Amino acid sequence: MVDLARYIRDIPDYPKPGILFRDITPMLADPEALKTAAHAMAEPFMDQQIDIVAAAEARGFIFAAPLAMQLGAGFVPIRKPGKLPFDLHSFAYELEYGSDELQVHIDGVKPGQRVLIVDDLLATGGTMEACCRLLEKCDAKIVGCSFLIHLANLGGEQRLNPYTCHSVLTYD
Ligand code: PRP
Ligand code: ADE
Repeated sequence: MVDLARYIRDIPDYPKPGILFRDITPMLADPEALKTAAHAMAEPFMDQQIDIVAAAEARGFIFAAPLAMQLGAGFVPIRKPGKLPFDLHSFAYELEYGSDELQVHIDGVKPGQRVLIVDDLLATGGTMEACCRLLEKCDAKIVGCSFLIHLANLGGEQRLNPYTCHSVLTYD
């Protein structure tokens, strides 16, 4: 079994002083580590009848397509402003190191469809909360949220209560 934590590189003071950035690129570049990560993120949801895997750009996209294929689901992109061409739902939110806005097509998810939302990392939970709000505007059924990394001291899991959250690696 691959020890995924060995492939996460810590970069102090990036992108701002005081932020310890958890760099997943060494893990992405290793075939076995990438496969292990994608399987571990999907595993608790394999028997949950997922219709759609949704994710926010950019790092969420990396995991969304392999998880969708493992789960027999489709993929719906959640994007930053100016990227999606059709009618939109929008939600503005705060990050650990800034603020941003996310959008989804109004017909991206059909009412009642069962959605798993994925991302590489849970920090403050602002990004995932925005994704949940957007998909609720589509009347989706949010089955859960799956992350590779959880930064546990930033309150993200509490912010996402009562959604089911799964993470593969946790850092205090
Ligand atoms: C990062 C990461 C998560 C988010 C987590 O994305 O990929 O989406 O931050 O932080 P939060 O829990 O405090 O919202 P970022 O906005 O840096 O964009 P990127 O994926 O384009 O690098
Ligand atoms: N996104 C938000 N906080 C982060 C961190 N500390 N490392 C990597 N990505 C992040």
